[in-house]
Amino acid sequence: MPRIRPDIASIRPYVPGRHIDEVARDIGMRPDEIVKLASNESPEGPFPGVAKAVAAVLTESNRYPDTDFYELRRVVSGAIEVPPDHLWFGNGSVSLLSHLALTIGGPGTSAVYAWPSFVMYRVISRWAMSEPIEVPLGDGFVHDLDALRAAIRDDTSVVYLANPNNPTGTLVAADAIDEFIDSVPEEVLIVVDEAYHHFVDDESYATAIPQALARPNVVVLRTFSKIYALAAYRVGFGIAQPGTISELMKSQAPFSVSQVAQVAAAASLGNPEELARRVEANAAGRRRLLDALVERDIRHAESQTNFVYCKLGPDSAAAAAAFTKRGVIIRPMSGGWVRVTIGTQAENQRFVAVLDELLLNLQR
Ligand SMILES: Cc1ncc(COP(=O)(O)O)c(C=O)c1O
Repeated sequence: MPRIRPDIASIRPYVPGRHIDEVARDIGMRPDEIVKLASNESPEGPFPGVAKAVAAVLTESNRYPDTDFYELRRVVSGAIEVPPDHLWFGNGSVSLLSHLALTIGGPGTSAVYAWPSFVMYRVISRWAMSEPIEVPLGDGFVHDLDALRAAIRDDTSVVYLANPNNPTGTLVAADAIDEFIDSVPEEVLIVVDEAYHHFVDDESYATAIPQALARPNVVVLRTFSKIYALAAYRVGFGIAQPGTISELMKSQAPFSVSQVAQVAAAASLGNPEELARRVEANAAGRRRLLDALVERDIRHAESQTNFVYCKLGPDSAAAAAAFTKRGVIIRPMSGGWVRVTIGTQAENQRFVAVLDELLLNLQR
């Protein structure tokens, strides 16, 4: 066995949502009988036109991808009204998180974020040799911005803020974020992770992009993995000032986003009707699922995303395993809480049907 960095060796590996084929083999069902609601993926395939655009470049596999992201940059810049040089692309937004953590971390630094929040903030902090400082969420599973600010130390190099938050689906209002950003020392990087921003319909919410354009210490992260249904292709991007991007990307290998993925992402934009239809389908599914939880008196957070966080306790792993046995894959969190992705209407109904079956068993 080679010698391994002890701090890395002690990391608990990231546990992804289980793959449909694997569960199907395990429980003896066909893959098409399994419902996966465990990874906050889109229940639908790519946007219209994406598969055709991808097919057209499949034979260009001998060439390295475009390191300037010319076309993707142009299209994203137009879509979100951000200057092209304020965009930073990577192999999923999680890779951008790891690059920036490596660039600003190192021994003697710390990283502040809420808990529970996106588990990768913990993992990348460890990779970067930064000490993780985890601040419990406040009332209603909302970020406690005062406590986050108070947790920032002289050695803190970054604050991660998922808005809306994963796994709780809760959000922080625009004015509170602005006030928070104003109060953080300029030498601390603030990463506002907006992976789920498309799904929000609460009017108090706004993107932090204006802050990222105005300040060198703010980065907003976005992804094509959620509403745009490209999780398999791995494309994420950041919005920040060009000087900040050129520093943060020094820990990034070249050619990190395949040409196929770049083409797929670019072809996903420019279809506002399809985007609105998918957002509405998610909102309708979320409303029905939250209503079902209320009717059954199940504790939950007020989700603004494509997933709900609810307590099926006392044992999260046992609850998730009971669902898996019945062909519905959900994500166990801790303390009896689970995270359930909004699927198609039929998938959501399957979840509720299994929930009722299990509740009935519990009452017996
Ligand atoms: C808060 C948050 N940020 C980032 C990501 C990663 O997205 P990507 O697929 O772009 O790496 C996720 C994925 O679940 C997430 O929940």
